[in-house]
Amino acid sequence: MSRNAASPKIKVWDTELTRRLGLRLPVVQGPLGGGLSSVELVGAVADAGGLGSFGVHHLTPQALLETASKVRARTAAPFALNLWMPCAYRQQRHIDAESFAQALALLAPFYEELGLALPEAPPAAWPDEREQMEALLEARPAVFSFVFGIPPADVLRRCRQLDILTLGAATTVAEARALEEAGVDMLVASGAEAGGHRVAFLEPPERGLIGLFSLLPQVVDAVRIPVLAAGGIADGRGMAAALLLGAQGVQLGTAFLACEESAASAVQRASLFQPQANDTVLTRVFSGRLARGIRNQFVERLQAVKDRLPGYPLLNSLTAELKRAAVAQQRPELMSLWSGQSAGLLRHRTAAALLTALEEQAQTLLGGL
Ligand SMILES: Cc1cc2nc3c(=O)[nH]c(=O)nc-3n(C[C@H](O)[C@H](O)[C@H](O)COP(=O)(O)O)c2cc1C
Repeated sequence: MSRNAASPKIKVWDTELTRRLGLRLPVVQGPLGGGLSSVELVGAVADAGGLGSFGVHHLTPQALLETASKVRARTAAPFALNLWMPCAYRQQRHIDAESFAQALALLAPFYEELGLALPEAPPAAWPDEREQMEALLEARPAVFSFVFGIPPADVLRRCRQLDILTLGAATTVAEARALEEAGVDMLVASGAEAGGHRVAFLEPPERGLIGLFSLLPQVVDAVRIPVLAAGGIADGRGMAAALLLGAQGVQLGTAFLACEESAASAVQRASLFQPQANDTVLTRVFSGRLARGIRNQFVERLQAVKDRLPGYPLLNSLTAELKRAAVAQQRPELMSLWSGQSAGLLRHRTAAALLTALEEQAQTLLGGL
């Protein structure tokens, strides 16, 4: 029996998100940037009736196009590509010799511990966002999701012409209004529980650390475009609650990161299932911008000097080799262990098992109302 036939058609699955994209379930696998997305994860989510997303903010335009082709070779279903918009918050692309030396001095003990030579020059340039957007338009995914701001008006207009659905992210009511006014199609209300970066763009993220239970209904009241919910959702109870609070779908990141199809290393994935995952911290020490991950030694040792570290994307590039070496040497205490606040709820090891559990549990709860 097909899964469509097995699932009674309950009205909550019929949302603006599922209708617009022809999905079976109102569930988005949140984009995982910096190399943690995978074609297999996007494909597995699509097979199970959700929307898979690939985080491509770290890729060159050429690599972005290649990624889109690989996803298309895996699935005919709609998928999202995700970019980070240029954002002034702790942005730093260039560094003078003195500040570079200061940053290296702070990071030197970690390079040494991991047996790495210190870089002699600042990292190469980070991909240009405008060029990435041009490549994305060429790749023409069903959904362009973005964070840290709003794409330029001409990009939004071309998305409409190409039938690419635009999906922004808001951490406050003001950001939700700004996205709607710019003509963005849908938005994700991102609660402070979420794993990874705080994607605020109107105010520094420290000013908008609003939990999803407070943020979601206020955003739903403030805008007319469909709102998806993200931050701390890891099971069917969270999904049902978000739909009751007015969301047209849910976006989960940490729970998909924990699935074996993600590109997370085995050590990183295992860390999400350990008790330490209950202790997350918002920190700038890995990338230069505020992000939520599991507290570990790297964070503890650098937190006190965080204001002397460079901004994004410079610090992100400077720590990249450290992070890679920590993974290769299986040293979780020196890795960036991104996680949201609901890691303690994680039970499922594959995307299909996670989506089945979400569907069944949410259906039981909502069907009984
Ligand atoms: C490791 C990791 C990387 C992420 N990278 C991105 C990204 O590049 N772009 C983006 O829009 N969201 C990114 N997110 C946010 C997720 O897509 C999602 O919105 C968020 O994780 C939801 O909260 P949860 O972690 O509590 O489920 C990332 C999250 C994690 C955990």
